[in-house]
Amino acid sequence: MPPIIRVENLKKIYRIGNEKVKALNGINLEIERGEFVCIVGASGSGKSTLLNQLAGLEKPSKGNVYIGKSNISQMTEKQLALFRQKYLGFIFQSYNLLPALTAAENVALPLMFKGINKKTRLAAAKVQLEKIGLGERLGHKPTEMSGGQQQRVGIARAFVAKPKVIFADEPTGNLDSKTTDQVLQMMMQLAREENITFVMVTHERDLAAYADRIITIKDGQVLSDVKTQNHPTAQREQDNTIHTEEKKEQ
Ligand SMILES: Nc1ncnc2c1ncn2[C@@H]1O[C@H](COP(=O)(O)OP(=O)(O)OP(=O)(O)O)[C@@H](O)[C@H]1O
Ligand SMILES: [Mg+2]
Repeated sequence: MPPIIRVENLKKIYRIGNEKVKALNGINLEIERGEFVCIVGASGSGKSTLLNQLAGLEKPSKGNVYIGKSNISQMTEKQLALFRQKYLGFIFQSYNLLPALTAAENVALPLMFKGINKKTRLAAAKVQLEKIGLGERLGHKPTEMSGGQQQRVGIARAFVAKPKVIFADEPTGNLDSKTTDQVLQMMMQLAREENITFVMVTHERDLAAYADRIITIKDGQVLSDVKTQNHPTAQREQDNTIHTEEKKEQ
């Protein structure tokens, strides 16, 4: 299977007056369909910049990002906006829920762009909110919910339209450690169930338990790229090992 995301010699230079900041300095990588990828690194290393180029929220200075067969770096703003609505989901640190809308209405929003009628949208939102334990909060506005609950609404909204890829920048940054665990667990489970590729920037130390793959960024470059024991291919290798041992015994 071809990778779902392919990054070619990606560079991003920010100019402030006469000064240049090389935020990304030649990134090459491929992400497979269904991978749960964490991007880590020191503050200022370029993690958010990388995520923003991958998600088509910003245009690279050089290089290309392909999602599926589409070169999103060559798209116009209008094409990109449509592409994002159709194929991508986002989870933000600050939740980004619309304050005037209820939990269900917030979650239903991405389905509106798909031209689905209101009744069907709200029914799908209800199902998604029930999945993450918020079936009792459908009619609550964001201010009437805790931080963890608001972020779960944000997660439900990202998953409801079944995007190909979900991008998340520090999605647990505002949560306590217990809620962080729950939220990470939930995102991982949902992503696995739907075979959705998940790319997350995070500061969480305890990642090995969740991520399939950990990419460390330093000074705008990939410092290391490691698959964990959770990775689907790692499990396949383990299965093979057991198989071979069984055969030997026979
Ligand atoms: N819009 C911008 N204009 C100018 N410089 C920027 C801009 N955005 C980021 N930078 C610079 O690019 C570099 C990478 O920033 P980035 O936000 O990607 O870091 P990060 O790894 O996400 O850090 P953090 O963990 O603190 O969120 C930094 O040196 C930052 O100052
Ligand atoms: Mg950042």
